Amino acid sequence: MLTLVPEPIERYATAHTTPLPPLLQELISVTQERFGRQAGMLSGQLEGTLLQMLIASLGAHRVLEVGTFTGFAAQMMAAALPEDGQLITCDTDPKAIEVARSFFERSPHGHKISLREGPALETMRSLEPGFDLVFIDADKESYISYYEEALRLFSTSGLIAVDNVLWSGRVLDPKDESDHAIVAFNKHVSRDERVTNVILTVRDGLMLVRRK
Ligand SMILES: C[S@@+](CC[C@H](N)C(=O)[O-])C[C@H]1O[C@@H](n2cnc3c(N)ncnc32)[C@H](O)[C@@H]1O
Repeated sequence: MLTLVPEPIERYATAHTTPLPPLLQELISVTQERFGRQAGMLSGQLEGTLLQMLIASLGAHRVLEVGTFTGFAAQMMAAALPEDGQLITCDTDPKAIEVARSFFERSPHGHKISLREGPALETMRSLEPGFDLVFIDADKESYISYYEEALRLFSTSGLIAVDNVLWSGRVLDPKDESDHAIVAFNKHVSRDERVTNVILTVRDGLMLVRRK
């Protein structure tokens, strides 16, 4: 369980949050079976439900996700979109993409999801602006580039949500390249005069950003 709060508190919060539908519980089990420890990358019930709340509150129609993995957050977010809403998500890992696609086909919200295989920056650069929410959750070294591209793509009233910004606490004592990338990213956004941002201590740290 990836969390920065005591695990009993995380379990309590999860137990008192809207339960997941059976298909998403199955997706978690399949992801754990096939990806082992990597399954910890999946954002999970608390963060997924928070993203749903944001999408519903914004009245969002178009959502972009950077980093699909097995499609957990994509499915959660798609469920909060209206019938004519659209979620574009992208990833480079064929093994994860295969699982994501097989579950999107079975999801009642799968028709809203378009999965693009390939490097996220290429996908982002190919898109027209007008997204209501951009969820950044891929390789940490590219976070500043994803953020700058997301600023181009999201509407003036939209939000950018960025995962793992507390990086299991390693932001306090950065050692490797990913640690330093997250530290640089957090500094970049908090000094960016175009935006207002907040870091929520949900799961591994979720940053929300909106234009001033
Ligand atoms: C943390 S996981 C995403 C989890 C997913 N958002 C969820 O909540 O279920 C990160 C994903 O980013 C993908 N990724 C890494 N580098 C990428 C890149 N350059 N372009 C697109 N996807 C990338 C990885 O393959 C991995 O599946």
